[in-house]
Amino acid sequence: MFKISQLFRFKRSNLLYLVISLIILLWCMSVGWAFNRALGASPSHTLAQLSPNRPTVQAGKELYEKTCAGCHIPIPAEVLPTETWQQLLENPQKHYGTSVPNMIRLTQVLIWDYLKTNSRPILLKGSPIPYYVEQSQYFTILHPRVEFKEPITTQSCVLCHTGIKDFNYRRLTAEWEDAP
Ligand code: HEC
Ligand code: HEC
Repeated sequence: MFKISQLFRFKRSNLLYLVISLIILLWCMSVGWAFNRALGASPSHTLAQLSPNRPTVQAGKELYEKTCAGCHIPIPAEVLPTETWQQLLENPQKHYGTSVPNMIRLTQVLIWDYLKTNSRPILLKGSPIPYYVEQSQYFTILHPRVEFKEPITTQSCVLCHTGIKDFNYRRLTAEWEDAP
């Protein structure tokens, strides 16, 4: 005869699977929660900028170079406002007509830590969020001596920056290093 207790009788191995699944589920939820909290907050720098050398920022920087330099050069965080990075990280499937692979949550959290720590919120609150480096005020501010005549793309940086391979935007061509 059917007993209700049969419904709930687990084999030992099933119970083990259940416990493992629960642990994995909880881990995923906590990573997701951290990410939503990090992205949900409006860009704030007070805490983040205190310690730009935190290990998670370093890990984020390395992941950024791996994940975001596959198709174009790694664009340094400081040339775009924090809001732009937030939008790009939130929409890896809609990335300038393509999609960024390998964007699991943990990758997103760490990359966000690097980008947030090394960029600033948009200068004029409420103004459109730049989608291209060319539209960014920070890009202009970082280039006081340069008057750009050609359109700026991810391919043009290398004309003047010789350290891009090492993610170093300080090193310049002799022409600029020596210029007053
Ligand atoms: C699958 C290839 C691919 C990957 C990986 C990729 N991108 Fe892009 N990205 C593009 C394409 C295509 C464009 C538009 C054309 C261009 O400038 O190269 C672009 C443009 C950009 C631009 C605007 C550049 C400009 O012209 O002003 C930014 C900023 C950017 N990507 C950030 C990122 C970030 C952040 C990541 C990592 C999370 C990333 N990209 C990873 C393909 C990629
Ligand atoms: C025509 C030459 C030229 C091009 C093209 C150019 N830059 Fe620069 N960049 C400079 C010079 C010169 C400086 C130093 C500031 C100055 O003298 O204006 C600089 C400074 C910077 C800095 C600040 C470096 C620091 O920490 O002191 C960043 C970041 C940067 N550029 C990023 C970029 C990116 C990203 C691109 C491409 C989208 C780019 N630049 C294209 C010439 C150029």
